[in-house]
Amino acid sequence: MLQQLGNGVSVTGCGSAKLTNHLDNHMLSKIVDTSDEWIATRTGIRQRHIAGEDDCLKTLAAEAAQEAITMAGLAPIDIDLIILATSTPDDLFGSACQVQAELGAATAVAFDLTAACSGFVFAMVTAAQFIRTGVYQNVVVIGADLLSRWTDWSDRRTCVLFGDGAGAVVMQASERDRLLGFELRSDGALNDCLKLTYQSQFKELADDAAVQHGTFQPITMNGREVYKFAVKRVPEVIEKALFRAGLATNDIDWLLLHQANQRILDAVAERLHIPSERVVSNMAHHGNTSAASIPIALDEVVRAGKVKVGDTIAASGFGAGLTWGAAIFEWG
Ligand code: COA
Repeated sequence: MLQQLGNGVSVTGCGSAKLTNHLDNHMLSKIVDTSDEWIATRTGIRQRHIAGEDDCLKTLAAEAAQEAITMAGLAPIDIDLIILATSTPDDLFGSACQVQAELGAATAVAFDLTAACSGFVFAMVTAAQFIRTGVYQNVVVIGADLLSRWTDWSDRRTCVLFGDGAGAVVMQASERDRLLGFELRSDGALNDCLKLTYQSQFKELADDAAVQHGTFQPITMNGREVYKFAVKRVPEVIEKALFRAGLATNDIDWLLLHQANQRILDAVAERLHIPSERVVSNMAHHGNTSAASIPIALDEVVRAGKVKVGDTIAASGFGAGLTWGAAIFEWG
């Protein structure tokens, strides 16, 4: 049934999974040669949550999604589409269908979307296309990643940065369009800066038959290059999305960046002349949770009563690919 509610897009619910295990900087300093002082000064991170033995991506993603669905005043059976932004699925064929089953969203179509730390913004924009064309009315967008599975726990340059988490929003068709503007970018020429690559091992099965039979290797990163990329490209893409929305930076109530590093948040805010009280940051408690970081941070500020209905949010994700993007939307 097409266009019952209008072609506009509204973000009407959010949620996040509650992980109980954590790893603080002091604990990390027993694993690699680092210190709370070094990590906190360079990144703003004090601790990160880590999936427990019985946690899996699908259950954490479903927990976040259920919270968002409840906030939106819907039931899982009302959901038409589930997009799961993740780079760390339980199943390489995709985990979104498992989330659909876990939720009991029997009539929803579900698929994974991989765009690393930009995945949530890319998924929001993808969801909006289905809503704007009138095809679907109620969409759940989840960002969930368990990077601890793929972190090299002997590499102090990367292992101090990442954490696990899941967050979600509900996007619904509405009369008024509250997704005001967006801009997405990719540059595969910079792929080497941040990678989690498959390494093949050619294996002979018989005299005349051989196959690739390798595995994925832990995350590698050129921290300095990623830092330079983020502080240059993120302000640009936000300004482009604002331009498309017909807004200026002083129209932004909340700057909601991918929580990669406090220094990146500060530098981007400074370039855009956005005061720190309008910058959402939960780095200290969560570290970098990849695709999950934006919806987790959104959920925290919404449930704390800071973000009010009608507030304008500039969300921006950036990371491996390299990928980056921004979406400007009004909450509620
Ligand atoms: N503890 C202590 N020392 C560490 C360390 C750690 N966890 N990690 C690196 N160091 C050391 C290095 O070995 C190096 O020592 P050396 O000079 O004796 O060789 C020194 O600190 C400086 O290393 P460098 O990599 O140049 O540090 P940096 O100032 O660039 O900070 C990052 C490193 C990772 C914090 C920074 O580059 C960054 O934030 N990059 C962006 C990363 C990011 O956000 N990635 C995800 C994007 S989605």
